[in-house]
Amino acid sequence: MGPVLGIESSCDDTAAAVLDEDGRVLAESIASQEGAHAPFGGVVPEIAARAHLALLPDMVGAVMARAGVTFAALGGVAGTAGPGLIGGLIVGTGIAKGIALAAGIPYVGVNHLEAHALTARLPGLIDGGAPFPYLLLLVSGGHCQAVAVEGVGRHVRLGGTVDDAPGEAFDKVAKLLGLGWPGGPALERLAAEGDPRRHAFPRPMLGRPGCDFSFSGLKTAVAREAARHGVGALPRQEAADLAAGFQRAVADVLADRAANAMALFAERFPDAPRLFVVAGGVAANRAIGAALAHAAAAHGFRLAVPPPRLCTDNAVMVAWAGIERLRLGLADTMELEPRPRWPLDGGARPTGT
Ligand code: KG4
Ligand code: ZN
Repeated sequence: MGPVLGIESSCDDTAAAVLDEDGRVLAESIASQEGAHAPFGGVVPEIAARAHLALLPDMVGAVMARAGVTFAALGGVAGTAGPGLIGGLIVGTGIAKGIALAAGIPYVGVNHLEAHALTARLPGLIDGGAPFPYLLLLVSGGHCQAVAVEGVGRHVRLGGTVDDAPGEAFDKVAKLLGLGWPGGPALERLAAEGDPRRHAFPRPMLGRPGCDFSFSGLKTAVAREAARHGVGALPRQEAADLAAGFQRAVADVLADRAANAMALFAERFPDAPRLFVVAGGVAANRAIGAALAHAAAAHGFRLAVPPPRLCTDNAVMVAWAGIERLRLGLADTMELEPRPRWPLDGGARPTGT
């Protein structure tokens, strides 16, 4: 089939990668726009779109040169077509379509969530591969869902958040503790100095059937506790105790909901191998990783967490999702429009209208 170029531009990471047809990475590049958005305390869509436009042409040229392939020799080009910020999606898919048209090669508009979901199947990543079906928990700044991944384009959403994503909750709590943005890693470092038992924060949804998630009540409880000290007057130990208490509560909730997701998966696929894949930026958190490992062991599931660079947004996963689709003959037409909202189980492809 030839190598595949992948382009990611759905949020604040600009990335391009070339994989050979077996999924080996020939070249990849990623530029985080964190510095551009940090002064605003979150991603500014207009700045993100302009940055993707400024960065992608040279980045694509550079990865193609490093991979040593010409556009015409590609087996296809894959661009993230949603869900995400529409400006960035238009830039990335526009470039991908332009290359496909000019080089006369197939185009694939990739669902970003499917790219996260299929990462587990990259060759060499998980011992023995990740045959369908498997259970996926996606926990990031924008996403929180448990999904049974049955096949390419075949995903069953078992549950998801009813309000914030966990990374979003980490970012908001970090902000009120004065830790900057994005706050997850800084909050984890601060939590290491704190006592997680000092505050009895709520564990939303804990013990409820199903595997939906909720984090906004927890975030509000931490905010209320922090406010007792007055703005900017939080002593370091107090902040550390709040961070530790919050992180423990998130870990408890995620472990509880994951346990229910495992039970639902096992019920639905009694004969499938019990593989539990965790992806997204929050999967990098060690306390959360430990809680999920514990839950997986208790339910007889093998836990697989791809390395952080493949768990967070990247273009390797987009190229790989493109390869999986192209292998099945699932190229898209130029009519496929980018979609800001595109649930995994809400129809396999956008309609283009
Ligand atoms: O997957 P990702 O890079 O981007 C998307 O949101 O799509 O995830 C970033 C999110 C941010 O909210 C960040 O604060 C959070 O993941 N995060 C963490 C940690 N590292 C990143 N949250 C908790 N603990 C961490 N160590
Ligand atoms: Zn993502």
